[in-house]
Amino acid sequence: MRPSVYLAYLSMAVTILIGNCVQANTLSGEALYDAACGACHSLGTSTDHRIGPPLGTLLNRQAGAIQGYRYSEALSNSGWTWTLPTLLAWLSDPDAAMPNNAMNYVNHLTATETQLLGEWLLQQP
Ligand code: HEC
Repeated sequence: MRPSVYLAYLSMAVTILIGNCVQANTLSGEALYDAACGACHSLGTSTDHRIGPPLGTLLNRQAGAIQGYRYSEALSNSGWTWTLPTLLAWLSDPDAAMPNNAMNYVNHLTATETQLLGEWLLQQP
């Protein structure tokens, strides 16, 4: 094989490899969380003075249950429990799902990404 042809193949392989990594990265729940939620929310359960409440141990938790965090009345009185369906409704369009809530968030993720992020988040301690 001529060196130039070999190089062309090599660069093609590298491009495909990088492409796969970027794609895998976009499609990881953790990366999506870091990009879309991490600025306002921590994981775990202790309030650390971020804008939103901590999101650890979310699965089957009553909405508005973190002691010491000042929730909106809408969220405190919602009677919601966090499961995959409620979380997906909340993330897809918070204002439509629960009017007058205080989460200032517009979802720019695809439905697939939102689902992946939701499934990942509900497994976090
Ligand atoms: C701009 C800041 C901000 C961003 C970004 C944000 N949130 Fe929130 N989130 C909040 C605030 C503020 C509340 C409290 C809302 C209320 O009291 O009505 C909240 C509440 C929540 C709750 C309810 C928790 C509980 O204890 O009942 C969940 C679940 C949640 N957010 C998930 C997410 C996820 C997942 C993302 C990323 C896709 C996200 N949020 C992005 C600010 C944010």
